[in-house]
Amino acid sequence: MLKIGDIEMKNRVVLAPMAGVCNPAFRLIAKEFGVGLVCAEMVSDKAILHGNKRTQEMLYVDEREKPLSLQIFGGDKETLVEAARVVDEQTNADIIDINMGCPVPKVVKCDAGARWLLEPKKIEEMVSAVVKVVKKPVTVKMRIGWDEDHIYVEDNAKAVESAGGKAVAVHGRTRQQMYRGHANWEYIRLAKQAVSIPVIGNGDVFTPEDAKRMLETTGCDGVMIGRAALGNPWMLYRTVHYLEHGELLPEPSPSEKIRIALLHMDRLINLRGERIAVREMRKHATWYLKGLPGASKIKDVVTQQETRDGMAEVLLTFVRELEREQAAEQANLQQETA
Ligand SMILES: Cc1cc2nc3c(=O)[nH]c(=O)nc-3n(C[C@H](O)[C@H](O)[C@H](O)COP(=O)(O)O)c2cc1C
Repeated sequence: MLKIGDIEMKNRVVLAPMAGVCNPAFRLIAKEFGVGLVCAEMVSDKAILHGNKRTQEMLYVDEREKPLSLQIFGGDKETLVEAARVVDEQTNADIIDINMGCPVPKVVKCDAGARWLLEPKKIEEMVSAVVKVVKKPVTVKMRIGWDEDHIYVEDNAKAVESAGGKAVAVHGRTRQQMYRGHANWEYIRLAKQAVSIPVIGNGDVFTPEDAKRMLETTGCDGVMIGRAALGNPWMLYRTVHYLEHGELLPEPSPSEKIRIALLHMDRLINLRGERIAVREMRKHATWYLKGLPGASKIKDVVTQQETRDGMAEVLLTFVRELEREQAAEQANLQQETA
Protein backbone atom coordinates (compact mmCIF):
# COMPACT_ATOMS: atom_id res chain seq x y z
CA MET A 1 0.00 0.00 0.00
CA LEU A 2 0.96 3.61 -0.39
CA LYS A 3 2.10 5.22 2.86
CA ILE A 4 3.33 8.81 3.14
CA GLY A 5 4.80 9.60 6.54
CA ASP A 6 2.25 8.08 8.93
CA ILE A 7 -0.62 8.41 6.50
CA GLU A 8 -1.75 5.18 4.93
CA MET A 9 -3.80 5.30 1.75
CA LYS A 10 -6.43 2.64 1.13
CA ASN A 11 -5.01 1.98 -2.36
CA ARG A 12 -2.33 3.16 -4.77
CA VAL A 13 -4.45 5.40 -7.01
CA VAL A 14 -3.96 9.16 -6.68
CA LEU A 15 -5.91 12.01 -8.27
CA ALA A 16 -3.36 14.46 -9.76
CA PRO A 17 -3.42 18.11 -8.73
CA MET A 18 -5.10 20.10 -11.50
CA ALA A 19 -5.54 23.87 -11.37
CA GLY A 20 -9.12 24.91 -12.12
CA VAL A 21 -10.32 21.33 -11.60
CA CYS A 22 -9.31 19.89 -8.23
CA ASN A 23 -11.54 21.93 -5.94
CA PRO A 24 -13.67 20.28 -3.22
CA ALA A 25 -16.51 19.55 -5.70
CA PHE A 26 -14.45 17.35 -8.01
CA ARG A 27 -12.13 16.04 -5.30
CA LEU A 28 -15.09 14.68 -3.34
CA ILE A 29 -16.40 12.94 -6.46
CA ALA A 30 -12.94 11.42 -7.04
CA LYS A 31 -12.92 10.29 -3.43
CA GLU A 32 -16.36 8.74 -3.75
CA PHE A 33 -15.07 6.94 -6.84
CA GLY A 34 -12.49 5.26 -4.65
CA VAL A 35 -9.08 6.98 -5.03
CA GLY A 36 -6.63 6.50 -2.18
CA LEU A 37 -5.39 10.10 -2.19
CA VAL A 38 -6.72 13.33 -3.69
CA CYS A 39 -4.51 16.31 -4.50
CA ALA A 40 -5.76 19.87 -4.46
CA GLU A 41 -4.97 22.43 -7.15
CA MET A 42 -1.78 24.42 -6.62
CA VAL A 43 -1.91 27.61 -4.55
CA SER A 44 0.76 30.30 -4.65
CA ASP A 45 2.70 30.94 -1.46
CA LYS A 46 2.19 34.67 -1.81
CA ALA A 47 -1.56 34.25 -2.24
CA ILE A 48 -1.66 32.16 0.93
CA LEU A 49 0.16 34.86 2.86
CA HIS A 50 -2.06 37.53 1.36
CA GLY A 51 -5.03 35.46 2.49
CA ASN A 52 -7.81 36.79 0.23
CA LYS A 53 -11.25 35.17 0.13
CA ARG A 54 -10.58 33.12 -3.01
CA THR A 55 -7.38 31.70 -1.50
CA GLN A 56 -9.15 30.89 1.75
CA GLU A 57 -11.61 28.89 -0.34
CA MET A 58 -8.74 27.08 -2.03
CA LEU A 59 -7.41 26.01 1.36
CA TYR A 60 -10.73 24.54 2.49
CA VAL A 61 -10.72 20.76 2.95
CA ASP A 62 -13.92 18.82 3.61
CA GLU A 63 -13.55 16.03 6.16
CA ARG A 64 -14.89 13.52 3.60
CA GLU A 65 -12.01 14.22 1.18
CA LYS A 66 -9.27 13.08 3.50
CA PRO A 67 -6.52 12.01 3.14
CA LEU A 68 -5.75 15.04 1.00
CA SER A 69 -2.55 16.62 -0.25
CA LEU A 70 -2.48 20.40 -0.62
CA GLN A 71 0.01 21.78 -3.12
CA ILE A 72 1.86 25.06 -2.77
CA PHE A 73 4.28 26.75 -5.12
CA GLY A 74 6.75 29.61 -4.88
CA GLY A 75 10.30 30.67 -5.65
CA ASP A 76 11.37 32.46 -2.45
CA LYS A 77 12.34 30.42 0.56
CA GLU A 78 10.92 32.85 3.08
CA THR A 79 7.42 33.05 1.63
CA LEU A 80 7.29 29.35 0.76
CA VAL A 81 8.17 28.41 4.33
CA GLU A 82 5.61 30.83 5.77
CA ALA A 83 2.91 29.57 3.42
CA ALA A 84 3.71 25.98 4.40
CA ARG A 85 3.33 26.98 8.03
CA VAL A 86 -0.13 28.38 7.32
CA VAL A 87 -1.17 25.16 5.54
CA ASP A 88 0.26 23.14 8.42
CA GLU A 89 -1.41 25.07 11.21
CA GLN A 90 -4.62 26.34 9.68
CA THR A 91 -5.90 23.71 7.25
CA ASN A 92 -7.36 20.25 7.40
CA ALA A 93 -4.94 18.94 4.72
CA ASP A 94 -2.93 15.80 5.56
CA ILE A 95 0.08 16.36 3.32
CA ILE A 96 1.89 19.49 2.09
CA ASP A 97 3.06 19.07 -1.49
CA ILE A 98 5.51 21.42 -3.19
CA ASN A 99 5.11 22.02 -6.91
CA MET A 100 8.27 21.52 -8.90
CA GLY A 101 6.72 20.68 -12.20
CA CYS A 102 4.56 23.56 -13.33
CA PRO A 103 5.93 24.55 -16.76
CA VAL A 104 4.02 27.78 -17.42
CA PRO A 105 6.20 30.88 -18.01
CA LYS A 106 4.36 32.97 -15.40
CA VAL A 107 5.40 30.45 -12.73
CA VAL A 108 8.95 29.54 -13.82
CA LYS A 109 9.80 33.23 -14.25
CA CYS A 110 9.32 33.61 -10.47
CA ASP A 111 11.85 30.79 -9.92
CA ALA A 112 8.97 28.51 -8.97
CA GLY A 113 7.53 25.27 -10.40
CA ALA A 114 9.74 23.45 -12.90
CA ARG A 115 12.50 26.04 -12.56
CA TRP A 116 13.88 24.13 -9.55
CA LEU A 117 14.57 21.07 -11.66
CA LEU A 118 17.88 22.60 -12.72
CA GLU A 119 19.18 22.87 -9.16
CA PRO A 120 19.14 19.83 -6.88
CA LYS A 121 20.91 21.89 -4.21
CA LYS A 122 18.13 24.45 -4.18
CA ILE A 123 15.58 21.65 -3.91
CA GLU A 124 17.30 20.31 -0.84
CA GLU A 125 17.58 23.74 0.72
CA MET A 126 13.95 24.71 0.08
CA VAL A 127 12.43 21.38 1.06
CA SER A 128 14.43 21.09 4.26
CA ALA A 129 13.50 24.66 5.23
CA VAL A 130 9.83 23.70 4.87
CA VAL A 131 10.21 20.33 6.61
CA LYS A 132 11.77 22.02 9.63
CA VAL A 133 8.75 24.21 10.39
CA VAL A 134 5.80 21.88 9.75
CA LYS A 135 4.33 18.76 11.34
CA LYS A 136 2.51 17.39 8.30
CA PRO A 137 4.51 15.25 5.88
CA VAL A 138 6.04 17.19 2.98
CA THR A 139 6.15 15.78 -0.55
CA VAL A 140 7.27 17.11 -3.93
CA LYS A 141 5.74 16.76 -7.38
CA MET A 142 8.28 17.16 -10.14
CA ARG A 143 8.86 16.65 -13.83
CA ILE A 144 11.83 14.52 -14.91
CA GLY A 145 13.90 17.54 -15.95
CA TRP A 146 14.03 20.90 -17.63
CA ASP A 147 14.71 19.65 -21.17
CA GLU A 148 16.24 16.51 -22.58
CA ASP A 149 19.77 17.81 -21.95
CA HIS A 150 19.00 18.54 -18.30
CA ILE A 151 17.34 15.53 -16.73
CA TYR A 152 18.39 15.31 -13.08
CA VAL A 153 15.47 13.28 -11.83
CA GLU A 154 17.59 10.94 -9.71
CA ASP A 155 19.54 13.75 -8.05
CA ASN A 156 16.38 15.76 -7.59
CA ALA A 157 14.52 12.85 -5.98
CA LYS A 158 17.51 12.21 -3.72
CA ALA A 159 17.54 15.89 -2.76
CA VAL A 160 13.90 15.60 -1.68
CA GLU A 161 14.67 12.50 0.36
CA SER A 162 17.71 13.93 2.10
CA ALA A 163 15.78 17.11 2.90
CA GLY A 164 13.22 15.03 4.79
CA GLY A 165 10.55 14.84 2.07
CA LYS A 166 8.25 11.85 2.58
CA ALA A 167 7.41 11.04 -1.06
CA VAL A 168 7.99 12.26 -4.56
CA ALA A 169 5.62 12.23 -7.53
CA VAL A 170 7.33 12.13 -10.92
CA HIS A 171 5.64 13.23 -14.15
CA GLY A 172 7.62 11.57 -16.95
CA ARG A 173 7.96 14.72 -19.10
CA THR A 174 10.45 17.57 -19.19
CA ARG A 175 9.42 21.17 -18.72
CA GLN A 176 10.19 21.83 -22.36
CA GLN A 177 7.69 19.19 -23.44
CA MET A 178 4.83 20.92 -21.66
CA TYR A 179 2.09 18.34 -22.42
CA ARG A 180 3.46 17.24 -25.80
CA GLY A 181 5.05 13.94 -26.76
CA HIS A 182 5.02 11.01 -24.39
CA ALA A 183 5.77 10.64 -20.72
CA ASN A 184 8.95 8.60 -20.38
CA TRP A 185 8.29 6.10 -17.62
CA GLU A 186 11.89 4.87 -17.64
CA TYR A 187 12.82 7.96 -15.61
CA ILE A 188 10.14 7.07 -13.06
CA ARG A 189 11.87 3.70 -12.69
CA LEU A 190 15.23 5.43 -12.19
CA ALA A 191 13.80 7.76 -9.57
CA LYS A 192 12.30 4.78 -7.73
CA GLN A 193 15.69 3.06 -7.70
CA ALA A 194 17.43 6.19 -6.45
CA VAL A 195 15.42 6.70 -3.26
CA SER A 196 13.71 4.73 -0.53
CA ILE A 197 10.79 7.12 0.04
CA PRO A 198 7.63 6.27 -1.96
CA VAL A 199 7.63 7.33 -5.62
CA ILE A 200 4.33 8.08 -7.32
CA GLY A 201 4.42 7.67 -11.11
CA ASN A 202 2.56 10.11 -13.33
CA GLY A 203 1.99 10.81 -16.99
CA ASP A 204 -0.14 9.28 -19.74
CA VAL A 205 -2.11 6.81 -17.63
CA PHE A 206 -5.26 6.75 -19.73
CA THR A 207 -6.66 3.30 -18.93
CA PRO A 208 -6.69 0.93 -15.95
CA GLU A 209 -4.29 -1.30 -17.90
CA ASP A 210 -1.86 1.65 -18.26
CA ALA A 211 -1.91 2.04 -14.48
CA LYS A 212 -1.00 -1.60 -13.94
CA ARG A 213 1.75 -1.41 -16.56
CA MET A 214 3.22 1.70 -14.94
CA LEU A 215 3.29 0.05 -11.50
CA GLU A 216 4.85 -3.11 -12.92
CA THR A 217 7.44 -1.57 -15.24
CA THR A 218 8.66 1.21 -12.95
CA GLY A 219 8.18 -0.38 -9.52
CA CYS A 220 6.56 2.87 -8.35
CA ASP A 221 4.44 2.86 -5.21
CA GLY A 222 1.44 4.76 -6.48
CA VAL A 223 -0.04 5.87 -9.76
CA MET A 224 -1.27 9.43 -10.27
CA ILE A 225 -4.02 10.11 -12.80
CA GLY A 226 -4.76 13.54 -14.24
CA ARG A 227 -6.32 14.18 -17.63
CA ALA A 228 -7.93 10.76 -17.92
CA ALA A 229 -10.14 11.63 -14.95
CA LEU A 230 -11.50 14.86 -16.46
CA GLY A 231 -15.23 14.30 -16.88
CA ASN A 232 -14.46 10.65 -16.22
CA PRO A 233 -14.18 9.77 -12.54
CA TRP A 234 -15.17 6.22 -13.55
CA MET A 235 -11.60 5.90 -14.80
CA LEU A 236 -10.48 6.19 -11.16
CA TYR A 237 -12.99 3.66 -9.93
CA ARG A 238 -12.26 1.23 -12.77
CA THR A 239 -8.51 1.54 -12.11
CA VAL A 240 -8.85 0.88 -8.38
CA HIS A 241 -11.02 -2.16 -9.16
CA TYR A 242 -8.72 -3.44 -11.91
CA LEU A 243 -5.62 -3.19 -9.72
CA GLU A 244 -7.39 -4.96 -6.86
CA HIS A 245 -9.36 -7.63 -8.72
CA GLY A 246 -7.89 -7.85 -12.25
CA GLU A 247 -11.36 -7.22 -13.66
CA LEU A 248 -12.25 -4.46 -16.13
CA LEU A 249 -15.60 -2.94 -15.21
CA PRO A 250 -17.81 -1.60 -18.02
CA GLU A 251 -17.84 2.08 -18.98
CA PRO A 252 -20.75 4.08 -17.48
CA SER A 253 -24.02 4.55 -19.38
CA PRO A 254 -24.76 8.00 -20.86
CA SER A 255 -27.39 8.72 -18.20
CA GLU A 256 -24.99 7.76 -15.41
CA LYS A 257 -22.46 10.21 -16.87
CA ILE A 258 -25.01 13.01 -16.86
CA ARG A 259 -26.17 12.12 -13.34
CA ILE A 260 -22.63 12.66 -12.02
CA ALA A 261 -22.15 15.78 -14.16
CA LEU A 262 -25.23 17.28 -12.47
CA LEU A 263 -23.98 16.28 -9.03
CA HIS A 264 -20.66 17.93 -9.89
CA MET A 265 -22.46 21.11 -10.98
CA ASP A 266 -24.59 21.24 -7.82
CA ARG A 267 -21.51 20.87 -5.64
CA LEU A 268 -19.77 23.62 -7.59
CA ILE A 269 -22.80 25.85 -7.07
CA ASN A 270 -22.65 25.26 -3.30
CA LEU A 271 -19.03 26.28 -3.43
CA ARG A 272 -19.03 29.25 -5.76
CA GLY A 273 -22.61 30.33 -6.36
CA GLU A 274 -24.59 29.68 -9.53
CA ARG A 275 -23.11 32.26 -11.91
CA ILE A 276 -19.44 31.29 -11.50
CA ALA A 277 -20.16 27.58 -11.04
CA VAL A 278 -22.16 27.24 -14.26
CA ARG A 279 -19.41 29.00 -16.22
CA GLU A 280 -16.85 26.64 -14.70
CA MET A 281 -19.13 23.73 -15.41
CA ARG A 282 -19.10 24.40 -19.16
CA LYS A 283 -15.67 22.80 -19.58
CA HIS A 284 -16.53 19.92 -17.24
CA ALA A 285 -19.78 19.27 -19.11
CA THR A 286 -17.92 18.95 -22.42
CA TRP A 287 -15.52 16.52 -20.74
CA TYR A 288 -18.42 14.45 -19.35
CA LEU A 289 -19.99 14.37 -22.81
CA LYS A 290 -16.75 13.35 -24.54
CA GLY A 291 -17.11 10.11 -26.48
CA LEU A 292 -20.92 10.07 -26.44
CA PRO A 293 -22.38 9.86 -29.96
CA GLY A 294 -23.58 13.27 -31.17
CA ALA A 295 -22.02 15.17 -28.25
CA SER A 296 -20.11 17.54 -30.54
CA LYS A 297 -23.47 18.89 -31.79
CA ILE A 298 -24.38 20.34 -28.38
CA LYS A 299 -20.93 21.60 -27.41
CA ASP A 300 -21.72 25.18 -28.46
CA VAL A 301 -25.01 25.18 -26.58
CA VAL A 302 -23.27 23.87 -23.45
CA THR A 303 -20.68 26.63 -23.55
CA GLN A 304 -23.42 29.30 -23.67
CA GLN A 305 -25.29 28.21 -20.54
CA GLU A 306 -25.60 30.72 -17.71
CA THR A 307 -27.94 28.98 -15.26
CA ARG A 308 -28.18 25.66 -13.45
CA ASP A 309 -31.59 24.90 -14.95
CA GLY A 310 -30.41 25.78 -18.45
CA MET A 311 -27.37 23.51 -18.22
CA ALA A 312 -29.36 20.66 -16.66
CA GLU A 313 -32.03 20.91 -19.37
CA VAL A 314 -29.43 20.77 -22.18
CA LEU A 315 -27.68 17.74 -20.69
CA LEU A 316 -30.85 15.85 -19.76
CA THR A 317 -32.52 16.46 -23.15
CA PHE A 318 -29.37 15.26 -24.91
CA VAL A 319 -29.16 12.07 -22.91
CA ARG A 320 -32.89 11.33 -23.22
CA GLU A 321 -32.68 11.63 -27.03
CA LEU A 322 -29.50 9.59 -27.16
CA GLU A 323 -31.01 6.78 -25.12
CA ARG A 324 -34.20 6.88 -27.22
CA GLU A 325 -32.11 6.53 -30.40
CA GLN A 326 -30.05 3.74 -28.89
CA ALA A 327 -33.20 1.87 -27.80
CA ALA A 328 -34.69 2.23 -31.31
CA GLU A 329 -31.48 0.91 -32.89
CA GLN A 330 -31.53 -2.03 -30.51
CA ALA A 331 -35.17 -2.80 -31.34
CA ASN A 332 -34.39 -2.65 -35.08
CA LEU A 333 -31.47 -5.01 -34.63
CA GLN A 334 -33.64 -7.47 -32.71
CA GLN A 335 -36.32 -7.34 -35.44
CA GLU A 336 -33.74 -7.97 -38.17
CA THR A 337 -32.28 -10.98 -36.36
CA ALA A 338 -35.69 -12.40 -35.32
C1 LIG B 1 -5.87 21.26 -16.36
C2 LIG B 1 -4.60 20.83 -15.69
C3 LIG B 1 -4.17 21.51 -14.56
C4 LIG B 1 -3.00 21.11 -13.89
N1 LIG B 1 -2.63 21.74 -12.75
C5 LIG B 1 -1.57 21.27 -12.02
C6 LIG B 1 -1.28 21.78 -10.72
O1 LIG B 1 -1.97 22.66 -10.19
N2 LIG B 1 -0.19 21.26 -10.08
C7 LIG B 1 0.59 20.27 -10.62
O2 LIG B 1 1.55 19.82 -9.98
N3 LIG B 1 0.31 19.74 -11.82
C8 LIG B 1 -0.76 20.20 -12.52
N4 LIG B 1 -1.09 19.62 -13.71
C9 LIG B 1 -0.31 18.46 -14.18
C10 LIG B 1 -0.97 17.15 -13.73
O3 LIG B 1 -0.98 17.05 -12.32
C11 LIG B 1 -0.22 15.92 -14.31
O4 LIG B 1 1.12 15.96 -13.86
C12 LIG B 1 -0.21 15.90 -15.82
O5 LIG B 1 -1.49 16.20 -16.35
C13 LIG B 1 0.26 14.54 -16.36
O6 LIG B 1 -0.60 13.52 -15.91
P1 LIG B 1 -1.73 12.86 -16.88
O7 LIG B 1 -1.03 12.37 -18.11
O8 LIG B 1 -2.36 11.77 -16.07
O9 LIG B 1 -2.70 13.98 -17.23
C14 LIG B 1 -2.23 20.03 -14.40
C15 LIG B 1 -2.67 19.37 -15.56
C16 LIG B 1 -3.84 19.75 -16.19
C17 LIG B 1 -4.28 19.00 -17.42
